[in-house]
Amino acid sequence: MFDLPVLNAPAQEASLYAPSDAATQDQAARKLYVETYGCHMNASDSEIVKGVMHSNGYAMTDKPDDADVILLNTCAIRDNAEKKIHERLKHLKFYKRRRQDLVIGVLGCMAERMREELVIQKNIVDLVIGPDEYRTLPALVEKAFQGEKGIAVKLSRVETYDDIEPLRTEGISAWIAIMRGCDKFCTFCVVPFTRGRERSRAAHLIVDETKRLWDAGFKEVSLLGQNVNSYHDDVAGTDFADLLRATARAVPEMRIRYTTSHPYDMSDKLIETMAEFDNICKYVHLPVQSGSDRVLQAMNRDYTVEHYKERLRKIKELMPGCALTTDIIVGFPTETEEEHHMTLELMREIRYDGAFMFKYSPRERTKAWKMEDDVPEETKTRRLNEIIEQQQRIATEINQALIGTIEKVLVEGEGRRDATKWKGRTDTNKFVMFPHLTDEASGKTAGYVVGDIVSIRITKATSMTLVGEIVA
Ligand code: 5AD
Ligand code: SF4
Repeated sequence: MFDLPVLNAPAQEASLYAPSDAATQDQAARKLYVETYGCHMNASDSEIVKGVMHSNGYAMTDKPDDADVILLNTCAIRDNAEKKIHERLKHLKFYKRRRQDLVIGVLGCMAERMREELVIQKNIVDLVIGPDEYRTLPALVEKAFQGEKGIAVKLSRVETYDDIEPLRTEGISAWIAIMRGCDKFCTFCVVPFTRGRERSRAAHLIVDETKRLWDAGFKEVSLLGQNVNSYHDDVAGTDFADLLRATARAVPEMRIRYTTSHPYDMSDKLIETMAEFDNICKYVHLPVQSGSDRVLQAMNRDYTVEHYKERLRKIKELMPGCALTTDIIVGFPTETEEEHHMTLELMREIRYDGAFMFKYSPRERTKAWKMEDDVPEETKTRRLNEIIEQQQRIATEINQALIGTIEKVLVEGEGRRDATKWKGRTDTNKFVMFPHLTDEASGKTAGYVVGDIVSIRITKATSMTLVGEIVA
């Protein structure tokens, strides 16, 4: 479901920010179900949507069958993301047949371009609401209950939802969106069109929010933006490195992560700030997209492979243990076999801990849309398989080299498939499984709870997972 690295996983049942006031106690409160697709930014937006609706008296449900309002928070980054939504909508048609008064809404990145098709042609959807219009939700949902369809898709230059308290319902990890939109206009990417211009939240509000999260029991925070290196609080004159420093100082025991960075403006100051603070996680997601300068230029990425490698050298020089992940697109228009091999070569040279790898998908309104999508589908598939295979081999080797080492793991809770195994993450964002030690006589967990940082000796490793045992 998520395209970006999974930085946050539901971890515990206790709801630190769960609805606890009138909305849940009032039996008559209407119930809202939100389903989220796409990146972490969308996950964070869903929390804002829930926050808006909760303060308007809605109760939350995690079962669509129980809901009076179903909202899909959509992603438009690639064609297959949109296909998933269309499939889901077909399915939701049955819910609607069963319950005439059910309100169904489409939110997020697909809203702008799908408004007419979704509301008028398909007649399944009552509401279409873009990423900058979530404040209109309660009023439009109310009207939808009266039978009136609603569309609100205007993008804003100023909306940051600064005064909205996101409804965070679970976990020890929280997301904070520090900025919205993107001004980079990579030629393949629809985000500048679906999410609009870049705008940053005030630094002091972000630092205050982080402190409140720490006080509420969260142990980790991820600062989010499409391109966090462009963060700028114009009033305070604060750039992203300053914000990171202020946050790290404000909550010295909280793990701090961020995503996503753009290689063009990954500054020395930012790398030095990361190195300076123990509580800033030693993990960088730095999308390279391609190993060819010509392709990077055609993508309007604004850096060369050499500039990118130089940034990584700086990262490794100051933080030798820092984990690196990336995004790669294969089959961008005009990409030759030789250029594809340059990408493979770059990935071998850098040896990423992880990579998110995609076939190029043409998106309307982007510059690349006007180029011929001339790499055949079979070639894209083969190229994708080649980079995946190589990356899995490299990640397995990197992770197996950790066998025997002791890693500090933030305990997130039970594993999804096997309750006898618990899961957590290293500072470097590696996923770790370990036996859930219980004292047989009392049945109690031996010594640690969700949110603790424990020492785990790594005993096994695959490309995606480490397995280990607790060190007493
Ligand atoms: N086709 C394929 N992948 C894309 N991405 C963005 N737009 C497209 C597209 N049109 C990938 C990039 C980006 C990640 C979030 O999604 O690699 O970094
Ligand atoms: Fe899209 Fe490029 Fe902006 Fe990332 S930096 S969101 S790839 S336009």
